[in-house]
Amino acid sequence: MTEYDVIVIGAGAAGLMCAAQAGQRGRRVLVVDHAKKPGRKILISGGGRCNFTNYDVTANNFLCENPHFVKSALAQYSQWDFIGLVATHGVAYHERDHGQLFCDDSAKDIVNLLLAECDQATINQRYRCEVHDIEQEEAGFRLKLNGEPVRCQSLVVATGGLSMPKLGATPFGYQLAEQFGLKVLPTRAALVPYTLHQEDKTRFADISGVSVPCSITTESGVCFSENLLFTHRGLSGPAVLQTSSFWQPGEAVTIDLLPSESLKDVLVAMRDKHPNQTLKTSLSRLFPKRLVEVLIARDSLPDKPLKQLDDKQFDQLHHYVHQWSIAPNGTEGYRTAEVTLGGVDTHAVSSKTLEARDIPGLYFIGEVLDVTGWLGGYNFQWAWSSGWVAGQHV
Ligand code: FDA
Repeated sequence: MTEYDVIVIGAGAAGLMCAAQAGQRGRRVLVVDHAKKPGRKILISGGGRCNFTNYDVTANNFLCENPHFVKSALAQYSQWDFIGLVATHGVAYHERDHGQLFCDDSAKDIVNLLLAECDQATINQRYRCEVHDIEQEEAGFRLKLNGEPVRCQSLVVATGGLSMPKLGATPFGYQLAEQFGLKVLPTRAALVPYTLHQEDKTRFADISGVSVPCSITTESGVCFSENLLFTHRGLSGPAVLQTSSFWQPGEAVTIDLLPSESLKDVLVAMRDKHPNQTLKTSLSRLFPKRLVEVLIARDSLPDKPLKQLDDKQFDQLHHYVHQWSIAPNGTEGYRTAEVTLGGVDTHAVSSKTLEARDIPGLYFIGEVLDVTGWLGGYNFQWAWSSGWVAGQHV
């Protein structure tokens, strides 16, 4: 029977990082994946340019039932370590809003970087490989790979979450955790667009494609100020994706379409200066024209010169623009979600090594764990940090 020191299940971001590190420590490593090639999510991430980390990473950028859990791994392998690795491999990158770092050319550069790191050691890789019949033995694990029995001392579960089943996402990691008695916290699609009730969908049908800066606040009081995009299915854009991780089904969100100014003050100032300017023209200076039509139609406001509108009408519009409450019908679900909330309970896993506390030799890394980053490169940073840390201990 073929024996390895380490078998990593999942050749995604976390699994490849872990395999490379373990291999560079001289461990005999096999990384397996049921997909036909490695890093499929990396390749489509960040619109093909992979938002691989963020200049500003703290534990506050992650959702986890055990809020201190991420600290150790993030400290052991930080964003600066990964940025250094990116520089070593000569990958050109740039910063966008909020400290987000993207490849200049292609997300392929990040997959190539990880494969080059694997090539610095002899890492065996097997794709289109199905894993079955995992059993614990005295000195490790026995499992079947496409029916062939193999053994390893350390088994690393890096099978990710449930988002994008088309790209090979499966509940394998959760089932394995349960097989070994680890708790799995309920999962839910996150960083995902909202869908709308039919009435709202009809109302916004004509503004599909319109994008505006805004602030969105959830019922739990979490607020993100970024862009909102109206789509033919509902609401998307970074502000929506960010809040979706904090939103609970049935709740409403409050959207402020003009977060940096008071609409009433702006309209009053415009009325003083340009009393004959119509409401539509005035609002078109603040919002895209197609959105203005929707704003006016909603409150049945007349498109009259500003001097003919009273403060009550301004108040009405002010309230709508700053406190537009909308109850999403749901989300687009795992089909389009970037990540999965919940997963393997981190209380059962060492934050210092990523090894399961009660199952020596079994490790969980990356998104399969109950660790979900904000939008902005945090999920990859978690994959790099957790993968690197496990790679030092397997
Ligand atoms: P990942 O999902 O990368 O890898 C898991 C691997 O396990 C896959 O290769 C899969 O085939 C394999 N696998 C699953 N089940 C298996 C089984 N039963 N047997 C064998 N193999 C199995 N994050 C970020 O920080 N910046 C960004 O720009 C983006 N952009 C982005 C865009 C889109 C469209 C998505 C869907 C996601 C993102 N993300 C992101 C999130 C990021 O991709 C994600 O958090 C990481 O890829 C998680 O890394 P993992 O290695 O944990 O799982």
